[in-house]
Amino acid sequence: MKRLITLNINGQDFDLAVSPRDLLVDVIRRKVGLTGTKKGCGQGDCGACTVLVDGRPVLSCLTLAVAAQGKKIQTIEGFSEGEKLHPIQASFVEHGAVQCGFCTPGMILSAKALLDRSPDPSEEEIKRGIAGNLCRCTGYKKIVESIEAAAEKLAAREEGRMS
Ligand code: FES
Ligand code: FES
Repeated sequence: MKRLITLNINGQDFDLAVSPRDLLVDVIRRKVGLTGTKKGCGQGDCGACTVLVDGRPVLSCLTLAVAAQGKKIQTIEGFSEGEKLHPIQASFVEHGAVQCGFCTPGMILSAKALLDRSPDPSEEEIKRGIAGNLCRCTGYKKIVESIEAAAEKLAAREEGRMS
């Protein structure tokens, strides 16, 4: 039996008919059509399906879509700033932290949540912040460097706003 729910994704409301057992990752990808969120293991191990729910990283393959009602969901599609890449995205590109790209959306959203709660993280904090996101390609060094560089970019932008 389908239920009608409304999900707020990237600031836009989507009215959707879902079964109570539908997973958030499948609804985002198949019903809403936002395929930037990846489905890797489907069992909570790889982090590819990470989205932000009320600003916190959540594994959408372990989350029921009905449980996300009334919350603000952010996917990678809501991340760029108009035509411009968000500073975290730009840093990933500049530092060669994107190879096959499968882990990248989840990795970037975990990095965003980390930098929101800790704008100047240590290397250890960064490693902990992305510990749930697996990457088969990069060896993580470039990803960690990207997040460090993104923290600097965001701090400079904040200073520019305040001066
Ligand atoms: S697809 Fe969700 S953790 Fe792997
Ligand atoms: S860039 Fe390929 S899995 Fe991370």
